[in-house]
Amino acid sequence: MKLSDDIEKVLISEEQLEAINTRLAKELSTDYAEKNPIFVCVLKGAVLFLTDLVRKMDSPVEIEFMDVSSYGDEMTSSGDVKILKDLDVSVAGRDVVFIEDIIDTGLTLKYLIELFKTRQAKSVRICTLLDKEENRQVNIKSDYVGTTVPNEFVVGYGLDFAEKYRNLPYIGVLKPEVYQN
Ligand code: PRP
Repeated sequence: MKLSDDIEKVLISEEQLEAINTRLAKELSTDYAEKNPIFVCVLKGAVLFLTDLVRKMDSPVEIEFMDVSSYGDEMTSSGDVKILKDLDVSVAGRDVVFIEDIIDTGLTLKYLIELFKTRQAKSVRICTLLDKEENRQVNIKSDYVGTTVPNEFVVGYGLDFAEKYRNLPYIGVLKPEVYQN
């Protein structure tokens, strides 16, 4: 099958993603030039974004990974955040930037930010590629935002539906018949 056959429309093209990454990388390089931050990539969706973003940065960053789950294969958040893989390093006294593909209800990041406060990170900021602002259930604001997106079922460039479509090079809207089946 062709993944692209299931896409109703391209929401953010490869060129637009490239421009977003260039802008965010510049901002982060400036803001964190002397801080040697830890970028915490929240698996799995943010992997493609992280790798493209850091390659455009000309300041030192450390990269770590965490895997949390709040959705499973369901379409709505349960609010129940589980740590599937934790960090291997201490964040005490460090400047942390969470790298996310999308903030939806905000429940995942609210949980992570509280957790990292107890772990005594020096600072904690958020960088998200996509912000589905209108779905927010808790008061979480991203410090760096690629772009806001409407409340549609978006996939590609790391974002999945039932583990599929992550390898599309753009962000697209899934045809309703795909997830309604
Ligand atoms: C997605 C996304 C965020 C979270 C955002 O991850 O990557 O981590 O949901 O949703 P929220 O703001 O409503 O909490 P998901 O659990 O789908 O895992 P994945 O990245 O491995 O696909």
